[in-house]
Amino acid sequence: MDLATLTADLEALRDRALSAIADVSDAASLDALSVDYLGKKGELTAVLRGIGGLPPDDRPRVGAIANEVRVALEIALEERGSNLRASELDRRLTAETVDVTLPGRPIRRGTLHPSIEAMNEICEIFAQFGFVVHESPEVEDDLTNFQMLNIPLDHPARDLWDTLYVDLPGHLLRTHTSPGQIHVMRSTPPPIRALLPGRCFRYEAVDASHGFEFFQVEGLMIDRGTTMADLKGLLDQFAHAMFGAGRKTRFRPGYYPFTEPSVAFDVECLVCGGVGCPACGRSGWMTILGAGMVHSVVLRYGGLDPEEYQGFAFGMGPERIKMLKHGITDLRLFLENDLRFLEQFR
Ligand code: PHE
Repeated sequence: MDLATLTADLEALRDRALSAIADVSDAASLDALSVDYLGKKGELTAVLRGIGGLPPDDRPRVGAIANEVRVALEIALEERGSNLRASELDRRLTAETVDVTLPGRPIRRGTLHPSIEAMNEICEIFAQFGFVVHESPEVEDDLTNFQMLNIPLDHPARDLWDTLYVDLPGHLLRTHTSPGQIHVMRSTPPPIRALLPGRCFRYEAVDASHGFEFFQVEGLMIDRGTTMADLKGLLDQFAHAMFGAGRKTRFRPGYYPFTEPSVAFDVECLVCGGVGCPACGRSGWMTILGAGMVHSVVLRYGGLDPEEYQGFAFGMGPERIKMLKHGITDLRLFLENDLRFLEQFR
């Protein structure tokens, strides 16, 4: 092999390759061409192998030409490739359409449990009157859940709160949020306006209106000269905010060992508007909470002097409020975790 032949071969190869590259019409064929010419077993590589047979003086010249050919082919391959990609994109842009008006896939969001939602609504209403949320433990001792609330050991009033006891002597799962009154009185100097939302537990046979686990929201107000009129005014405001401004309300005498006097607070039946229907037991009224003036025994256990401070407390079940508001007839729905129920409260 001599210099002139090799040079001519290289030039012929280049011309052939360039026109093949120009003719190619898809990316796969272009890749194949690249392998045919520049690959390990490609034509250019084969020519380069021939350089070894030249006299040493000629090798650099042929090497330089071969290099130019390689660079020219690489540039041509690259340009052709990007042209092909651009026209492929053009083709797809005209052939395929994206409907940007299609609605997106909805993101599934969780929701608050209706019991929690009801507690939040209750707390928000009382917050407007300056009531602040406090926390209180779910595992209590007998002293705080009962005795300091004026319910002595072996007192028959305990029957009102069937109790689940825990494996720690003298301890139980709180049967109501009222022991929170003691904690708040002992930790907060008056004036006090406290709310205690939380979970309660009772040893109950479960039915449509009883659960062994439910929520309560306790309210406590303590100040000098707080009266029953303050309690009545506040609860009226609450009922109107929760159930509608025109709703009639009434207070009935009630009994709780930790309040004296004690009341039950009713709102005009939300179903029949007071006429009487099955939902309200034909009475026209629905009871929404229990309340009363904090008993002097309880004030003393809370570290307060009943001669100086007075106050009231109330306790309500957020599930019951939700049931009355939405005409829900079975308390068990709140604990069954059935999405068909829960998703109605988004
Ligand atoms: N703790 C009472 C109950 O569980 C409700 C209540 C609270 C009544 C505060 C009066 C005052 O039934």
